[in-house]
Amino acid sequence: MQRAAHFALYDWTHILSSSTARQCLKCRAAPLQLSSRGYSVLPPPRDSEEKAMLDRILRVDHAGEYGANRIYAGQMAVLGRSQIGPLIQDMWDQEKKHLGKFNEILAENRVRPTALLPLWNIAGYLLGASTALLGKEGAMACTVAVEESISEHYNSQIRALMEKDPDRYIELLKVIKEFRDDEMEHHDTGLEHDAETVPGYWLLKNVIQLGCKAAIYASERV
Ligand SMILES: [Fe+2]
Ligand SMILES: [Fe+2]
Repeated sequence: MQRAAHFALYDWTHILSSSTARQCLKCRAAPLQLSSRGYSVLPPPRDSEEKAMLDRILRVDHAGEYGANRIYAGQMAVLGRSQIGPLIQDMWDQEKKHLGKFNEILAENRVRPTALLPLWNIAGYLLGASTALLGKEGAMACTVAVEESISEHYNSQIRALMEKDPDRYIELLKVIKEFRDDEMEHHDTGLEHDAETVPGYWLLKNVIQLGCKAAIYASERV
C-alpha cells in the first residue's frame, strides 16, 4: 500500500532521478525486464514529435489506471465487507497491476505523470464510494461505465499505433491490448452483476462516461 502510494503520486521525481540504475532507491522496485531489443516497452524516440505522441499516450493511460484504482478503493470502503467485496477486490488487484506497469514505463522513459493526479485521487475515490452507496448495483453500473470508456480509449490508441507502425510499437501494443482485455472483463463482470438494474442506470452511465471523456481529454494535455 505504502509502495503503491509512493509510486503513484508524490515521489515520481525520486524514481526518475534513480532510473539510470533502473531501480528506485526508495522502495527498491525490481529492475525492469528489457527485451532483446534493449528496451522494455518503448523504442528510443526518433524525434520530438514521436516523443510528444508517446508521452501523451503514457500520461493519459497512467492517469486512467490511477483513477481506476481510486474508484475501486472508494467502492471497497463502502462494500468491502459485503458479499460483493471479494469480486471488487479481484478487479482492484488487476488495476494495481496495470498501474504498477505504467509507473514502471513512465519512470523508464522519463515521462512525468499528469499534474491532475491529486484531482483524480479525490474524484475517483468519491465516484467509487458514492456509486457504491447506491448498493452493489450502483457500484457495478459505475464499473460498466468506466471500463467501457477505458476499453474504448485503449482501442483507439491501439488503432492509432497500428496505423503508425505496428512493429515499432509492438511491446507497447502488447501491454495496451492485455489491459484492454482486462478492462472488458471488468465491464462484463459489472453487467453480469446487475449493473443495469440500478434506478437511473442510463443517466448514471452517461454522466460517468462524460466525466471519463473530460478526464481523458485533460490528462492528455496537462
Ligand atoms: Fe486498468
Ligand atoms: Fe479495469
